Amino acid sequence: MLSLYENVKSDNLRDRMENKFKRTTVTSALPYANGPVHIGHMAGVYIPADIYVRYLRLKKEEVLFIGGSDEHGVPITIRAKKEGLTPQDIVDRYHNLIKDSFQEFGISFDVYGRTTSDTHHQMASDFFKTLYDKGEFVEQTSEQYYDEKAETFLADRYITGECPHCHAEGAYGDQCEKCGTSLNPTDLIKPVSTITGSKPVMRETKHWYLPLDKHEEWLSKWILEDHKEWRPNVYGQCKSWLDMGLHPRAVSRDLNWGIPVPVEGAEGKVLYVWFDAPIGYISNTKELLPNDWEKWWKDKDTRLIHFIGKDNIVFHCIVFPAMLKAEGSYILPDNVPSNEFLNLEGDKISTSKNWAVWLHEYLKDFPGKQDVLRYVLTANAPETKDNDFTWKDFQARNNNELVAVYGNFVNRALVLTHKYFEGKVPSRLTLTEYDKEIIESFREIKARVEKLLNNFKFREAQKEAMNLARIGNKYLADTEPWKVAKTDLERVGTILNISLQLVANLAIAFEPFLPFSSAKLREMLNMESFDWNDLGKLDLLTNDHQINKAQLLFQKIEDDEIQIQLDRLARIKQENEEQNYRAQPIKKDIVFDDFTKMDLRVGTVLACKKVPKADKLLEFKIDDGLETRTIVSGVAKFYQPEELIGKQLCFIANLPPRKLRGVVSEGMILFAENNDGELVSIIPAKEVKPGSQIN
Ligand code: 2FM
Ligand code: ZN
Repeated sequence: MLSLYENVKSDNLRDRMENKFKRTTVTSALPYANGPVHIGHMAGVYIPADIYVRYLRLKKEEVLFIGGSDEHGVPITIRAKKEGLTPQDIVDRYHNLIKDSFQEFGISFDVYGRTTSDTHHQMASDFFKTLYDKGEFVEQTSEQYYDEKAETFLADRYITGECPHCHAEGAYGDQCEKCGTSLNPTDLIKPVSTITGSKPVMRETKHWYLPLDKHEEWLSKWILEDHKEWRPNVYGQCKSWLDMGLHPRAVSRDLNWGIPVPVEGAEGKVLYVWFDAPIGYISNTKELLPNDWEKWWKDKDTRLIHFIGKDNIVFHCIVFPAMLKAEGSYILPDNVPSNEFLNLEGDKISTSKNWAVWLHEYLKDFPGKQDVLRYVLTANAPETKDNDFTWKDFQARNNNELVAVYGNFVNRALVLTHKYFEGKVPSRLTLTEYDKEIIESFREIKARVEKLLNNFKFREAQKEAMNLARIGNKYLADTEPWKVAKTDLERVGTILNISLQLVANLAIAFEPFLPFSSAKLREMLNMESFDWNDLGKLDLLTNDHQINKAQLLFQKIEDDEIQIQLDRLARIKQENEEQNYRAQPIKKDIVFDDFTKMDLRVGTVLACKKVPKADKLLEFKIDDGLETRTIVSGVAKFYQPEELIGKQLCFIANLPPRKLRGVVSEGMILFAENNDGELVSIIPAKEVKPGSQIN
């Protein structure tokens, strides 16, 4: 990890390097086109990338923002099979949905392409061929599971079986979802192909590998020595990969969905999705600029920045750079700002569990409130550690910050200007010491926000912009122009001039973060365009400039709107819990003799009390037909002692006595465990004599 001193040093280094480049290529991870996008994607990747790009554009820098859908890979084929559709149907559906969501949230891509395009297939295929011809791959044969009925090799996810650890059925070839253990397909007990249900066999298959071990030396120097300014989470993850030593990685797969491996003897094989996807950044650039794409990828004066989530770090910092270096004509990324994960109401966001806030659904529930979500997700951006999104915080940030601070200040400044000056910007005349202080405080904003944005600290940068609104709000509250108006209209003019200049500054400062609100504000202020370089200036609005009517920038969000969201999540949680309950696998066979060895009986509860100093235990006195026996049972959480008195219960009568918290227990009462882990008593359907045997 970097020390504080190194961070400061690298900030300065970064500032110096800013001027080294002529243009910037910004990419954001290509989302898989097998589901809609949610707030985790936005907070982790797309909002920070969009803020950065909007900022550079405002500075009139040459920048290109590349996005697109990642349309290959096994999960897409599984989804298609489940729905009885083709993989192409699936990616068509989600590509369009995702593209629309991004557009609606103002993610300002210059191009949003897809990896099923012809341009991409051609480019990825050529890329592979170039590396192949240069001898940059090694070929290796290994044994993998093969489905003889379907005549196909099986991807890890297409094989299920018994987990070797928890013995749950239905564990996948790469992971057991019950106990979470990572697996290899060969670890599974009784593996089955999910395609035909048959037992797969081992068969030899050939693949092409990128020998990352050969790239280790330059990668180590390039990352660990030359890029100490990368975020500590990115740098740290790379370091641990490098410390463990790199190994060859297969870049092909046996699958029929993807880009065919373009060499002889590769029938039935496609490029591994993680080989073709990052090339998608390049092919999408080519799709946009067929004759001018190369300068964005090959010119040493171009700076390449990848915005990604933390699960993509190794691919963008190690594998893709190794591919680019092996090809030989490409530049390498200058920085890879990666965020950690965003949780939702304390739990990990999960597509399969529907534990997410989906963008297209958010927009239905909160129409026109794109900037509110952008604001909250940046305010809580998981830049250095995982963070949590809660609906209560969403409401509070909207009501207490956007409405009460930013919106309120803007509204008051504009309404008062209309009230006292017919909407014309009044002159600024004699300044008080306090006025000068205020003016000074917003002069510094540009340098502060720039420094933070240049260092990918979006959360703090947005906070600075909000501080400017706080200053404005306080200024109006302190100077009270509505009172001064009774005696000194000239003074009111000065106060409102300063306030309006502040409002114009806010419109610029917030433009990268809240583009919809800034556009609205620009319209209210009757300002043609913004120039980032005007930020911090005092004369953005000239005297007598006519402003338009004030509209509300933000609206309060009421409790019932939030409750609807909380109720939805509670419903989902309950559904998941119900689904999660899976019957325990039946235990290994026993012989009848084993059963007859157990003496199972019915007894009547004569008395019951809590065991002192043991939260969980109840002490039962049971009439077993012969005598009164004591049994201690861990059900105090589920029953009050008096509840079971007089009831008949089932118990094992021939276990050796055991001392529990000082009480000798002579047997074990039987309980069934329900979905919630609750223990439920087993009572005979009709009363029987105490001591009756259970056969
Ligand atoms: O993790 C993911 O969602 C991948 N689809 C990201 C790919 S990024 C790039 F390489 F295309
Ligand atoms: Zn398991």
